[in-house]
Amino acid sequence: MLVLAIETSCDDTACAVLKDGKQILSNVVSSQTSVHQKYGGVVPELASRKHLEWIVPVVKEALEEAKIRLKDVEGISVTNGPGLMGSLLVGLSFAKSLSFATGIPFVGVNHIEGHLSAIFLEEKVPRFPFVGLVVSGGHTSLYRVDGFGKLKRLGATRDDAAGEAFDKVAKLLGLGYPGGPMIDELSRKGDRKAIRFPRPVAAKHSFDFSFSGLKTAVVNYVRTNPEPPGVYPERILRDLAASFQEAVVEVLVRKTFQAAEHEGLKRVVLCGGVAANRRLREAMIEASHEKIKVFVPRAPLCTDNAAMIAVAGHACLERGIRSSLDLDAFSSLPL
Ligand code: KG4
Ligand code: ZN
Repeated sequence: MLVLAIETSCDDTACAVLKDGKQILSNVVSSQTSVHQKYGGVVPELASRKHLEWIVPVVKEALEEAKIRLKDVEGISVTNGPGLMGSLLVGLSFAKSLSFATGIPFVGVNHIEGHLSAIFLEEKVPRFPFVGLVVSGGHTSLYRVDGFGKLKRLGATRDDAAGEAFDKVAKLLGLGYPGGPMIDELSRKGDRKAIRFPRPVAAKHSFDFSFSGLKTAVVNYVRTNPEPPGVYPERILRDLAASFQEAVVEVLVRKTFQAAEHEGLKRVVLCGGVAANRRLREAMIEASHEKIKVFVPRAPLCTDNAAMIAVAGHACLERGIRSSLDLDAFSSLPL
């Protein structure tokens, strides 16, 4: 089955063509980073306007790269939440129009389930059930995944998402946007033990997270040290970035393994934009052992893309699940 997928939940206009739920024929991501950079974050109104401009060329490029025509497509998969309302509506309306004009069935997909499905694009795939950690700009959640569409949330952040904490701390340090990849890069030459930031746990016996206290600890550190942000010597910035990153990574790894042990599960899947972080990937793999194995998609499949939406959509279409043309977009869409 050939599935065409569209993803426009935030600031990336993305379209992919997937064969038989596994083989990526194309995976086009048009990033809006340059548009939002000067504002230090995503401007929702600008994001939806750019999606409108780019959706047609991006879909055309995905079809061309896959060397197929629209009439060859057998199913359309599209993100209908959670995300920015204006952004979601562009992709969803476009997918519905395609479906209406061609008669190709379409299905709405939850963005989070998309992230959790990215691992199935890899050579080595986990068997169900597994524990999935979704770490992105908007979400930090742990799930027990028993199959496609069979998920149970074990815990989530009570305040900031991990990616949000990365972005806010980067802004505070004057590093610019997007913050996550910049902190990742800077940390490579930093000493992760230089500053002992707190390892925040929302509550001892829960799988919830909390990152706002850690962010405040970085704010306090910057305040109580003389150099104003933006003019920190490179060496101090590197140590600050590496120490902050280590605190986030340690909490994510610890809670994920505790969740796997609690559920008696032998497999862990890491996904979402923050899963592109090199230290997090390394620490997760280091923590794995013969009883708990870790699976992480390649970095470009961790950040927003449409191939992951195609995998989740394919699983629905294959089971005969279809959406109707009155499907809505939802800024929050709990799994
Ligand atoms: O999944 P994603 O692309 O979009 C959302 O669904 O939110 O995740 C974006 C988030 C941003 O907060 C970004 O700073 C973070 O992922 N991110 C990273 C890295 N690459 C992206 N955070 C840490 N290290 C990275 N290498
Ligand atoms: Zn995402």
